[in-house]
Amino acid sequence: MKSISLTQFLIEQQREGRINADLRLLIEVVARACKRISIAVGKGALGGVLGSAGTENVQGETQKKLDVLSNEILLEANAWGGHLAALASEEMDDPHPIPDRYPKGEYLLVFDPLDGSSNIDVNISVGTIFSVLRCPEGVKEPDEKAFLQPGTQQVAAGYAVYGSSTVLVLTLGDGVYQFTLDREQGNFPLTHAKMRIPEDTSEFAINMSNMRHWEPPMRRYIDELLAGKTGPRGRDFNMRWVASMVADVHRILTRGGIFIYPRDLKDPGKPGKLRLMYEANPMAFIVEQAGGAATTGRERILAIAPAQLHQRVPVFLGSKNEVERVTAYHLTPA
Ligand code: AHG
Ligand code: MN
Ligand code: MN
Ligand code: MN
Repeated sequence: MKSISLTQFLIEQQREGRINADLRLLIEVVARACKRISIAVGKGALGGVLGSAGTENVQGETQKKLDVLSNEILLEANAWGGHLAALASEEMDDPHPIPDRYPKGEYLLVFDPLDGSSNIDVNISVGTIFSVLRCPEGVKEPDEKAFLQPGTQQVAAGYAVYGSSTVLVLTLGDGVYQFTLDREQGNFPLTHAKMRIPEDTSEFAINMSNMRHWEPPMRRYIDELLAGKTGPRGRDFNMRWVASMVADVHRILTRGGIFIYPRDLKDPGKPGKLRLMYEANPMAFIVEQAGGAATTGRERILAIAPAQLHQRVPVFLGSKNEVERVTAYHLTPA
């Protein structure tokens, strides 16, 4: 069967009135940037791109060379098309304006240029996560405030995984679509339409090394899973943890599961590790569009009114019935 390409898919979406020409261009440009990042990641040691850049980002993480390079690729690709009002990224302290020499558009793009930094040097899947918002009406020079919109306002979200194959997963608010990079042709044929996350699962993803720091409802939930057949859940659960959110979420989108990065009490001032604007929100949008659920353990991620661009949140997402169960444990502790 001959499948349609991302370009054709987007043109059809435009014809059906779901997106305008600028949003179509934006997605095309992001896909092209992801293709370039995929090539850089794929070269590995041969490209001289492994290892640390020797700098720190605003959250105090050491930047890898590929974090910085991926950020530059996305900036450079998106600056001149006329479709954006501004960009923001994990790797930049503040929003990045569109240079004056280029026209400005109506959209804001927020991204995690390279997710899974700890896996770059060990040849394990990494990825790019992005979210698209509308620039608030009348705002000519968008600052941080322009970006602080709840995830329900996203007009598109997606991610690329640079794994054994490179895939691009996209939602425009009408289901979730997966495209696979054809490395010979250089295009992205559609490989899965209307993806669905099964409501039930026997697989969970969490960094268990933090268990001693978890809140009681979290410990209760995982203890019950670990108890297996003879425990309250009456069946065995399996565990997977890639430590690249994109890869863990992609597995869940493909075959179900629950992904958790909870708040822990190791650092009480830090509400979880993952960032709301460019990790939690785009993934929550995708997961909900595929029939799953996404919460902080207490509230729906997409409903949060952000206070800061680099704000962190606890993340529980994936198969609906498991996310609802662990959220209920937090809301009404035993
Ligand atoms: P990033 O590389 O963009 O900073 O994100 C890393 C995140 C996420 O991808 C992953 O789920 C998590 O860090 C892994 O954390 P642990 O090292 O605690 O397992
Ligand atoms: Mn990082
Ligand atoms: Mn990340
Ligand atoms: Mn990152």
